[in-house]
Formats: sequence, C-alpha cells, structure tokens
Amino acid sequence: MKPIKVGIAGMGVVASGVVSVLERNQTEIARRAGRGIEVTVVAERTPNKAAHLAEKGVQIVNDLSALASHPDVDIVVELMGGYEPARTFVLEAIANGKHVVTANKALLAVHGNEIFKAAQDKGVTVAFEAAVAGGIPVIKALREGLSANRIEWIAGIINGTTNFILTQMRDKGWTFADALKVAQELGYAEADPTFDVEGVDAAHKITLMSSLAFGVPINFEAASIEGISQLAAQDIVYAEKFGYRIKLLGITKRTDAGIELRVHPTLIPENQLIANVNGVMNAVMIKGDAVGATLYYGAGAGSLPTGSAVVADLIDVTRLHTADPEHRVPHLAFQPDALENIPMLPLSAVKTRYYLRMTVQDKTGVLADVTRILADRNISVDAMMQSEADDTAHEAQIVIMTHECIESDIDAAREAIKTLPSTSGEVVKLRVEQLG
Ligand code: HSE
Repeated sequence: MKPIKVGIAGMGVVASGVVSVLERNQTEIARRAGRGIEVTVVAERTPNKAAHLAEKGVQIVNDLSALASHPDVDIVVELMGGYEPARTFVLEAIANGKHVVTANKALLAVHGNEIFKAAQDKGVTVAFEAAVAGGIPVIKALREGLSANRIEWIAGIINGTTNFILTQMRDKGWTFADALKVAQELGYAEADPTFDVEGVDAAHKITLMSSLAFGVPINFEAASIEGISQLAAQDIVYAEKFGYRIKLLGITKRTDAGIELRVHPTLIPENQLIANVNGVMNAVMIKGDAVGATLYYGAGAGSLPTGSAVVADLIDVTRLHTADPEHRVPHLAFQPDALENIPMLPLSAVKTRYYLRMTVQDKTGVLADVTRILADRNISVDAMMQSEADDTAHEAQIVIMTHECIESDIDAAREAIKTLPSTSGEVVKLRVEQLG
C-alpha cells in the first residue's frame, strides 16, 4: 500500500522531532501502521528553515490554506500553538476532509467542542496525544486503557517549567524569582513565562483530561487557576516539616455535587511516588473505580518525546483511515451523543484539607483566638506548629493543617483571623491532597 501523506504546519522543535522519529523508526512504524507514513508538504514562510526537507523532496508551501487543501496530504499536523491562525487552519483542513493531529492544548481547551463537532460531522479524526504531558500516553490511557472504569479523579504534574522551578526552590532554598531566572537561562521557561507559571498551561491540559474522564463537554471557563508566582519558599520548608512536598497539580474530581476542575500549588504526602517527580518531568495519577490509582510518568515536553506522541497519533490515524467513522474511538472517549452536562463546581464548594500559615504576636490567648475562629466554622485542626518568636518583633509563625472542610469556610476563617489585633499580614492558604 502507498504511504499515507502528512503535511506539517509549524516548523519548530516538535516538528523536527516528528521528522526525526518518522525517519529513524520508519521500518517499525510501517510494520505497526500497515503502510509507510511520509511527510509530503510543509507550510513554512522562511525557506531556510525547511531547506533540508526540500532537499528530500518535501514540497514547501508558504500559506496555511494551501496546506489545508493540498491534494498530496491525508493528515495535517498542527504544531503552531496558540488560538489563531491554528483554529482557522484546523477547521479548514477538516472541511477539506483531512485528518488532524495536533499538540495544541490551548486551542483544544478553548475551541475543542467546535473542532470535534466539525470533525465528527465530516467523518475525520482529530488526535491530540501530544497536547497533554508531551510523550506520556495519557490520552490513550484515558480514552482506551481505562475505558472499563468509572474515573474518580485525576491529579497531575503537567507543567515541566513550574515543576523545575518548585524543585529548585526546594533543593536550593531559592525564591520563586531566583528559580524562574535560572529556568529562563536554561531555556525551560519562556521569556514571557505567564502561561506556565500562572497555571494556565496546566489548566488547558487538565480541562481536556476532565472531559475525557467524565464524558462532559470541554469547559475551560470552569477551571479555577492559581499558579506558583506567589508561593513563598518558607511554605515549602514548613510543608516538609509536616511530611509534604508542594507541587503544582492539575486536579479534576467527580463528587456527588458535580465536577471539580482546578490548578493550584498543592501539598502532597512525601511518600507518594508523584511527590518525588522532580525537575521538568511530568506525571499523572488517574484513579478508576476498578483499577484503583494508576500513575504515568515521563517527559512532558521536548522535541523527541513530543514527536513520539505526534507520531503515535499518526500511526493510529493511519490504521483508522479506512475505518467507518462510527467505529473509531470517540474524540472525547464517550460517544458524542452520550456526553453529559454534569455541573462544574466553583472553587468555593471544593472540599479538601488545608494548610494555613499566619504571623502572630507571641502573647497569651492568640492561639485560643485562632482555634476558636476555626471551631466556629466547623474546621477541625489535624496538626499544628509554631515557630519560636523572633527576639525583636516578638512575632511567631503559626502553621495549621486542617482536616477536610469546605473552601468557603476556610476563606471566612482567614478573613476573621486577619481582623484579630494579634495577627499581621496575610493568612497563607494552600490546599492539601492525600491522593489515596
Ligand atoms: N510549557 C510546557 C511545560 C510544555 O513547561 O511543561 C508544553 O506544554
């Protein structure tokens, strides 16, 4: 059978990984896919960037529409990132009957419902393994490997930049700003790191996984997002004293009241495997009712790991190319007419454990005042620690770990604690997950 023909938009590091994996493993790939997979067309405005491909006979076009409608392309690979022109390009390719493979989490988290509907109507596939956790086949796990389960929750370290920064803060005692600077020098963080450090990239990814896990439309608007830029190094130290590590987690959970969807720095017990995922590595825990907790670990970014995920999708699409669209794995794991509109819970309704840190004057009755405020709001203390007061200001830090309670009660308690004459500054709040 003739090779299937692939067109690529976005000639960056991932595209070079895709080309490299297709070349180095071409025999194995053809044995798996049933036919060869060949890059035939590339969209690139700067001729130099694609000169090495032109030499191998790849056609270079300089506009995206030409690629989206090219007769020598069966599958387009979208590696441009961002919302536009990626959205227009992908919709145009679908309208022209091309299958799409994309690594673009931002695009799918925001425009995925529209894109998957267009693909469904046209009978083509949109595959996106590379959009979540780079080389880790977690989309495959959710859509296929775990399809017998009722998924209960997912918790993932799904942003390598922030995991690198948190690891440096812990290992070297650096502030967030110092660790970010080093991450930028090493090329792990962008010049504008906002999407990564403020949790937006992780929110895109957990939003996609939430939809696949629970069979609900993609709902990025419902995600509560808090990054790590406000995290103080001393909270990492206090968390360690209680036996916890702080990680930026994307969390989605099914509760009786609805679905939680959130990204925030989280205390997790140090004896959990995922607590020991360091540097730029990613890991995702998925809890299914039958299988229990499962853990997937690997590189979340990079040329070859992300190329590995893109090529795996190309192999899948090649195998399915001639299959009846009705009998393919559904884009969002559940049949399109079986998606449910389960309510998405606001952050104020989230129920979990909390870490609180406050600065207090070291005098009689302060602790009693604080615990009274907590008790009045049904918040039960699990563990507590007070630092020795400093000699000059006679101020001490109190750190409290609570039992499970409701976020709105914790926030009300924090406000009340702040008004005590014996406290000063913010009452720092971090969420705690046992992941049991
Ligand atoms: N910027 C991401 C990260 C990789 O730091 O993990 C691509 O999503």
